[in-house]
Amino acid sequence: MSWLKGEACLVTGGGSGLGRALVERFLAEGAHVGVLERAPDKIDQLNADFGSDVVAIQGDVTDIAANEAAVAAMEAKFGKLDCFIGNAAIWDHGASLVATDAQQLARGFDELFAVNVKGCLLGAKAAAPALIRSEGSMIFTLSNSAFYPGGGGPLYTASKHAIVGLIRELAYELAPKVRVNGVGPSGMASDLRGPAALGQQDRRIMDSRSPEAIRAILPLQFFPDPADFTGPFVLLASRANNRTLSGVMINADCGLGIRGIRHVAGGLDL
Ligand SMILES: NC(=O)c1ccc[n+]([C@@H]2O[C@H](COP(=O)([O-])OP(=O)(O)OC[C@H]3O[C@@H](n4cnc5c(N)ncnc54)[C@H](O)[C@@H]3O)[C@@H](O)[C@H]2O)c1
Repeated sequence: MSWLKGEACLVTGGGSGLGRALVERFLAEGAHVGVLERAPDKIDQLNADFGSDVVAIQGDVTDIAANEAAVAAMEAKFGKLDCFIGNAAIWDHGASLVATDAQQLARGFDELFAVNVKGCLLGAKAAAPALIRSEGSMIFTLSNSAFYPGGGGPLYTASKHAIVGLIRELAYELAPKVRVNGVGPSGMASDLRGPAALGQQDRRIMDSRSPEAIRAILPLQFFPDPADFTGPFVLLASRANNRTLSGVMINADCGLGIRGIRHVAGGLDL
């Protein structure tokens, strides 16, 4: 398939996990790919693995200049930007309201919201002129935490709910030129870490979750790989397939939203 042939797509946080899976999938679909990524070692790895096929820009999504540099690099190399994917984020390892020290909670909010929400806002700001010119699209990575509690603590859950509002507002403001959509994955093994303010900068998601714990809560009853979530992004980035889609959020959460009152509603006992 070449659903994205010749499309120039920029993904933030493309150095590991879902972002890295999107790089690989989008290349396989024929896209020109760029990455804005904070971790220098992940930039080195992208350069080693993909060479000049991927424009890898080191920078922080909370910095407007870094976002503008990434968009400029895409336009310099490919002459355009067709799709911006705001994907970089940090988690909170489920740090709860009551158990978290008040000062840590306050500083953790500033740090986590800066990456998860301001990073998407500034990426959208930097990409908007190029996307209006190309009549392209934006996609933001949500989470089951954009819709339901319990997939994180109040910091992460509120940050992902905030991106729902950002998608709706930008889909409204940027129509008719730019489509703005989202994809909400469920749990996966990745390098996802937490705020330094909570002492979680080196703690990864699988230090707090096990594959079995993730599998067990999902009606589809398997532990997804990051690559399993890339299909909806391809759909939403594909001009041939996204003509009618804006303000759409795809729950790519293995049926989490329809699990109902029982742990597993049926199917296995047939
Ligand atoms: N892992 C999960 O279980 C899960 C579940 C639902 C949603 N998500 C979402 O998927 C997306 C990708 O996360 P992941 O799980 O692949 O984690 P990940 O840590 O492997 O990928 C995120 C990338 O973003 C980079 N990054 C972090 N802060 C940055 C910043 N300020 N500037 C630039 N780059 C930065 C990291 O270095 C990393 O490479 C996130 O939006 C996350 O909320 C993850």
